[in-house]
Amino acid sequence: MATRAPGLAWFSALVAVAAVTMLVSGCSAADRPQGERGEEVFQRYCHQCHEVEGIGTRLTRRVLESYETAEFLYAYNRSFMPYDAEGSLTDREYLDVTAHLLQRFGFADADFELTFDNGKEVSLGSGGRPE
Ligand code: HEC
Repeated sequence: MATRAPGLAWFSALVAVAAVTMLVSGCSAADRPQGERGEEVFQRYCHQCHEVEGIGTRLTRRVLESYETAEFLYAYNRSFMPYDAEGSLTDREYLDVTAHLLQRFGFADADFELTFDNGKEVSLGSGGRPE
């Protein structure tokens, strides 16, 4: 027993280090808040037309209100944007960028997570207020 104890201690220490490493690396890219990921998507794929060159409509709260629900806004983005490469992003990137727009224009809180299921529950048509 006395001879095994140091070995076990080392093993426990290694397991602890591995667990911490996994925790730290796991918290980096994949688990960032959706809105943050979406903002990055927007900067990379949408910003140029919508905010720099003015080719795309200036996105405002009022413009987004015409989409009625987050599900429609998602569907629009998914089908028609980016204008010059529609449908070229992943489903997850479309969810993320749509969530970013919802948060940015006050339709959803910063910790809101848009999924395929809850988009129809987020109303834009009535100014973001629940019906
Ligand atoms: C190459 C330029 C370009 C890029 C890149 C682009 N858009 Fe657009 N966007 C447009 C144009 C042009 C329109 C107007 C389309 C129309 O009316 O048929 C538009 C319209 C829209 C609308 C509807 C606005 C309205 O008036 O109803 C939304 C929402 C939108 N874009 C979101 C995005 C998102 C999100 C991205 C990035 C994933 C993106 N766009 C990337 C050019 C662009």
